[in-house]
Amino acid sequence: MNPSWFGAGPVSRAGVLVRLGAIGAVMLSVAGAFAYTGGWLSPARLTQDGMMAAFQDVDGIHAGFRRNHAKGMCVTGWFESSGQAAALSKAAVFRAGRVPVVGRFALAGGMPFQADAPAKVRSMALRFLLPGGEEWRTGMNNIPVFPVNSARASYEQLLASSPDPATGKPDPEKMKAFFAAHPEAEQALVLIKKRQITSGFANSTFNGLNAFRFVDAAGAPTSVRWSMVPVQPSAAESAEPSAAGDKNYLFDALIAQIAQHPQQWRLMVTIGEADDPTNDATLPWPADRRQIDAGTVTIDHASSEDGGPCTAVNYDPLVLPSGIEPSDDPLLSARSAAYARSFTLRAGEEGEKLPSAVTPQEVEAGGNS
Ligand code: HEM
Repeated sequence: MNPSWFGAGPVSRAGVLVRLGAIGAVMLSVAGAFAYTGGWLSPARLTQDGMMAAFQDVDGIHAGFRRNHAKGMCVTGWFESSGQAAALSKAAVFRAGRVPVVGRFALAGGMPFQADAPAKVRSMALRFLLPGGEEWRTGMNNIPVFPVNSARASYEQLLASSPDPATGKPDPEKMKAFFAAHPEAEQALVLIKKRQITSGFANSTFNGLNAFRFVDAAGAPTSVRWSMVPVQPSAAESAEPSAAGDKNYLFDALIAQIAQHPQQWRLMVTIGEADDPTNDATLPWPADRRQIDAGTVTIDHASSEDGGPCTAVNYDPLVLPSGIEPSDDPLLSARSAAYARSFTLRAGEEGEKLPSAVTPQEVEAGGNS
């Protein structure tokens, strides 16, 4: 081996220049890679920071809060598997038995102090703690489809709905242009507006919306979507003044219901057929698809998210156990990237955070499940 490679031999002036040139080239390419990753070389490219700025333009900056689904509270309980999904997925969560869950109920939007109202999108997020340190995290909304099918469309929708400085309201022309460019969003919104709105969180159905793949012990995949269907009886939303008078009426009702009795949802898994779209969350699957009752989630404890068990959780939809895999839906990686940036921002702002709007004292369910 040539000892001069280790700097031990004499080096000519030309050799020094060549080496310095090589070091410079490496440094330039590293700087270039950072610039590319940061989006500085392609300002039109959508970045995590660009997405966060769009949320902040619409809803303002609220230090320490989630950039979306900002108003919420933590819950805990468990999932009891029925064993029925075990034939389709080898995930340990589907074997007969119980695993603990850490969840969060929230309202969509980046405003942590918004008043509860019937039409606001409600969400349930769950983190299943599996044996051996595995986890399954999922976030679900009470709408039948998602309004957009790509990160770019989500960004454009935020830009179109950000308030016009002159009026303080979104510019209707911008919204019109958005829907003209995204007919899929217009169609999805028709379905979203038609949904049955129930009286509260406890009797809402929460849908995962994105498709995933269950993988069985032999490696065979099945396309699925999932929903949490309430065991609590349905009741239609009433537009009574009591609802309008209490800014937190949806959360307060849920806290009272949990204090009275554990609240339960069935995990219904819908099995996709060959032509069902897995890469487009704006499109529903036909209503007659086979469903499996995979088990029951029981929520028996509620607490404020200030110091609560869900606060430091990023409900990233790509945190999946062996036996559940992502589909080809591009929203999944977009969500993962956006949630990670939102998490980093809010964790760094912890010291500046105002108390959350919903601050139940630790609430433990009475009664039996
Ligand atoms: C490109 C599309 C989307 C973007 C940019 C986006 C963005 C976000 C962000 C920034 C958060 C806050 C994350 C945190 O700080 O922990 C969030 C929360 C949430 N998102 Fe999305 N989201 C998208 C699509 C979806 C879809 C398709 C669903 C399907 C149900 C969904 C359901 C939820 C839920 C349930 C939460 C609340 C999680 C919690 O309580 O912590 N999102 N979203």
